[in-house]
Amino acid sequence: MSSTPVIGFIGYSGLVGKSVLNNLIEHHNSGKVKLIILHREGSDVSLIPENVEKRLIQLDSNGFEKNKKAVEGLEVLLSTVGFQGLESQKYLIDALEGSKTLKTFIPSDFGTNWSEEELKANGLKALKVKEDIVNYLKEKKLSFTNIRTGAFDGFVFAYQAGGTDLKGNKQQIFRNSLNNKFRITSIPYLGFSLSQLLLKPDELINKTIQLFDYSPTGQDFINILTKINNGKKTEIINYSEEQYKLDLENDIGLAISAALKAKWGDNNFGDSNVPKIQGWNSKSLEELARQYV
Ligand SMILES: NC(=O)c1ccc[n+]([C@@H]2O[C@H](COP(=O)([O-])OP(=O)(O)OC[C@H]3O[C@@H](n4cnc5c(N)ncnc54)[C@H](OP(=O)(O)O)[C@@H]3O)[C@@H](O)[C@H]2O)c1
Repeated sequence: MSSTPVIGFIGYSGLVGKSVLNNLIEHHNSGKVKLIILHREGSDVSLIPENVEKRLIQLDSNGFEKNKKAVEGLEVLLSTVGFQGLESQKYLIDALEGSKTLKTFIPSDFGTNWSEEELKANGLKALKVKEDIVNYLKEKKLSFTNIRTGAFDGFVFAYQAGGTDLKGNKQQIFRNSLNNKFRITSIPYLGFSLSQLLLKPDELINKTIQLFDYSPTGQDFINILTKINNGKKTEIINYSEEQYKLDLENDIGLAISAALKAKWGDNNFGDSNVPKIQGWNSKSLEELARQYV
């Protein structure tokens, strides 16, 4: 087997995918990895340079032979498919079953460490598909790597995942979130750090890895809001237990946001061990937040 990791990649055109793609193309060009793009009929391949191999896949029950050829020789398969594509990762797993080269499959997760109990909430049930994929990998005896993250920066500052209203200068507080740490993963960091980890696939096998680059307390958010709003006092809003219960039963965006606030308030995010990522300098949280003002 070559010492240059052979990395298959699907989902390269999405939010997470694009940021990983840029870094992986660099690693490919400098000979640190061999990148192979897997794409569907109709995927935008104009993002892929000429010197990167592209293989067609078909994510339905008629695609087995095509997919089998597409995954030939892969040592890693990284999937960053969006929500619509999560279930269809099963077709890739079918194609990989029995692979002699695969070291690890990295399914599209990039979310929080959820417990079985938490996923019982109506609004969160749809996330169980991620767990189903991991169970399917186990059933097919394939190694895998879970990449867990904080809330993405856009989810925090544009969609108020943690109850932060930049323009309204308001911060929701739930339980003990004033003092506890939240977790934020900026997309550029995710792309950079994940691509670094892919240089050493042997170290990823059957691991769960946490990738987040900010862990502010509620008070940190309040301080930043006050600065951004020219010293004007930030309003603290108490997010109520009643609202929390209602939001958990609501659509997935509101439910995830509610559940994240509870994890924050209870200091219940789980493992916080982020691997050392060489060469990355995050901007300050204030600078990150200002991008969304
Ligand atoms: N932690 C957070 O705050 C957070 C926030 C958002 C998302 N996430 C997670 O991050 C992961 C990636 O999400 P994203 O927002 O980057 O996704 P996205 O932008 O919606 O990504 C779309 C990508 O998925 C592919 N895709 C779409 N439908 C597909 C299908 N039916 N079959 C196969 N491929 C399909 C697309 O490929 P084509 O080019 O072929 O269309 C495209 O490359 C997901 O697991 C999501 O749950 C986490």
